[in-house]
Amino acid sequence: MQITIERIPDNELKPLYQDPSQLGFGKIFTDYMFTMYYQKGKGWVEPKIGKYRPINIDPAAVVLHYSQEIFEGLKAYAAEDGRILLFRPEENAKRMYESAERLCMAPFPIDYFLESVTALVNLEKRWIPRAPGTALYIRPSLIGTGDALGVHPASEYLFFIILTPVGAYFKEGFKPISLYVEDYYIRAAVGGVGNAKTGGNYAASLLAAAKAQEKGFSQVLWLDAREKRFIEEVGAMNIFFVFGKKLVTPDLSGSILPGITRKSVIELARSLGYTVEERPISIEEVFDGIKDGSLTESFGSGTAAVISPVGSLNFKGENHLINDFKVGPVTEELYTRLVNLQYGKTEDPFGWVKEIGRL
Ligand code: PLP
Ligand code: COI
Repeated sequence: MQITIERIPDNELKPLYQDPSQLGFGKIFTDYMFTMYYQKGKGWVEPKIGKYRPINIDPAAVVLHYSQEIFEGLKAYAAEDGRILLFRPEENAKRMYESAERLCMAPFPIDYFLESVTALVNLEKRWIPRAPGTALYIRPSLIGTGDALGVHPASEYLFFIILTPVGAYFKEGFKPISLYVEDYYIRAAVGGVGNAKTGGNYAASLLAAAKAQEKGFSQVLWLDAREKRFIEEVGAMNIFFVFGKKLVTPDLSGSILPGITRKSVIELARSLGYTVEERPISIEEVFDGIKDGSLTESFGSGTAAVISPVGSLNFKGENHLINDFKVGPVTEELYTRLVNLQYGKTEDPFGWVKEIGRL
């Protein structure tokens, strides 16, 4: 792929953020973006890195009416020795390919995904923050464009990548969060699109999340659509429950997002001697475990949130504390090991970390 680069004159570049500890999540964007178009009969054309700017699409574009949209989320990390690292980017490329197939979109080729991310991040490396816990968040998106209102897949597509330097996803940082167990609204059902990373899943989750936040909870913990009994995932994370040396996480039933952090935590935990069970886990099993003391910790996992301890679950008006709302040793250990891998602080026996350039 031959990427055209449209340089911005130095005096027109944005000023860098001042204080990396104030970054938050996804509030400022870098100077450049990557774009590439899919045209019927031609395939993927015009790979370009140019100025971050509004995109021009027809008001009849399929994405605007029927939500034919998917996205990904990954991070570029600055290692202390100057390497620029990605964490399992081919997994994001593959998941995006699968999301595209589910949404009947022209899939973006896996090698193009890796090449475009690498090129854009290297060009924008001045934006990769160095402070602990910060990273450059990479947001690739694919949208159905074209100009016809019939309900059918778009004839044209736009793939684009934008970048945002980020700190912690939750304002709490690495501190326990409180979750609201949603017993009315659902996020997704088996057979739907819950396992694809498509915007509609997030739109569908907003009302429940807003209500939970009004009541003071960080995010919603979703239950299964059929029985409202089995745990699915959190707003932007998969979830784990710790029973001593055993971890339990909901299996990929078809309605939850197959998280790359989830997959990594499972492999990492197994390598450390933990037993990991991927299986249905009901809300009663969780509350029984809290009551009899066998459930010792819980945490969420995701790219944006990394590993986030869960301190309490509120269900039907009752609050259930986990580990006295403290960070537990298993959560702490997995968090530290994962972050050390991502920032290139420790040897990577798994082959997960990919150096794409130098600062
Ligand atoms: N579940 C949902 C709904 C998410 O939005 C995310 C974030 O991407 C995850 C789980 C975790 O996925 P990953 O670990 O690949 O970031
Ligand atoms: C991520 O963790 O990458 C996410 O996409 C979560 C959220 C910001 C949608």
